[in-house]
Amino acid sequence: MKVVSIVGARPQFIKAGAVSRALRHHHQEILVHTGQHYDYEMSGIFFDGLELPPPDVNLGVGSCSHASQTGAMLKGVEDILLAERPDYLVIYGDTNSTLAGALAASKLSVPVAHIEAGLRSFNRRMPEEINRVVADHLSDVLLCPSNTAVENLAAEGIKQNVHLVGDVMLDVLNWARQRLASRPSDVLSRLGLAPQRYLLATVHRSENTDDSEKLREILAAFNSLVEPIVFPVHPRTRKMITDARYAIKSHIQMIDPVGYLDMVALSGAARLILTDSGGLQKEAYWLSVPCLTMRSETEWVETVEAGWNSLVGAQLDKIVDGARSFTPARSHPALYGDGFAATKCVALLN
Ligand code: UD1
Ligand code: UDP
Repeated sequence: MKVVSIVGARPQFIKAGAVSRALRHHHQEILVHTGQHYDYEMSGIFFDGLELPPPDVNLGVGSCSHASQTGAMLKGVEDILLAERPDYLVIYGDTNSTLAGALAASKLSVPVAHIEAGLRSFNRRMPEEINRVVADHLSDVLLCPSNTAVENLAAEGIKQNVHLVGDVMLDVLNWARQRLASRPSDVLSRLGLAPQRYLLATVHRSENTDDSEKLREILAAFNSLVEPIVFPVHPRTRKMITDARYAIKSHIQMIDPVGYLDMVALSGAARLILTDSGGLQKEAYWLSVPCLTMRSETEWVETVEAGWNSLVGAQLDKIVDGARSFTPARSHPALYGDGFAATKCVALLN
């Protein structure tokens, strides 16, 4: 079978780390990079670090408005689908690359398989929520990481070809843990950090970066904490911090985004994670690191229900209180599958 896979943004390269490997055991894969992310630290570093095959095509779309970016991708993906006529198109998650893939393929009657289907924040002001809803309604095979996702789809009338497979990010994390056990990362010593003696922070969600009041509150909270904070800064956030000339105290190390293996090492040894990332909330859970999510809702509700993740919004007092006093639950049930989601996804493409 011939499969075209669409990736474009950091978390998609990571997810492809598990799925491409599994796909290529049985099928021909044409890996298409839309070019949504392009800095080495946001793109190439993952192909190198995860030992992913390089993309067969890079559309080089780059950054622009939602419509211009999605439109350019739509045209690029359509050209590839017309030339290749694949048996399936595989899309991941909820980015503009996901949306473009789903739209281009469904108009050409190429069956679409959506990995990480059914996630909902129920907040339509999030661009990702719009991308997810549209992608799910256009998909032919819906591969869900959680039972909540299956139920969300059912509530929207999507009940055919919906499969609970678990989360492919757990497969990748398990691969990384094995790799780090034999070849440890030196990232902590490079940054002068001691295990359990620092916080790890990431911020990139548009609701936080593009709202100057929210970004100010988040950074003021980081400034108020006394523990060292390591903060790999997404380029979108770097730009906002630089433009607004926010003062950052010296206990915060603002570093460039890091590769996946270094990120897993930094996450696993952190005392606490502060984030608005989707992927990192789950990784914090799997690594048994307590997490504060700087949003008012999450798609990964199970991590909150399990007592390991707390929604603190972009509010200074809640972030500071949480960082000082949030204690995770004693129990830690397995969430989001068994670490073999990628193989299950591939088996369902037929
Ligand atoms: C995108 C996804 C988001 C995902 C995130 C993962 C959409 C709508 N959003 O958000 O769901 O969580 O990726 O990280 O698809 N930039 C660079 N270099 C790069 C990439 C981006 O400088 O390599 C800067 C540009 O100024 C760009 C901004 O970051 O305008 C935002 O990039 P974009 O891909 O549009 O959205 P993300 O915030 O990365
Ligand atoms: N990540 C990384 N380096 C970084 C920041 C994040 O490897 O500097 C990884 C993180 O561990 C997770 C994924 O990127 O696997 C999450 O991507 P991101 O937060 O950009 O997007 P989201 O998951 O919110 O869509």
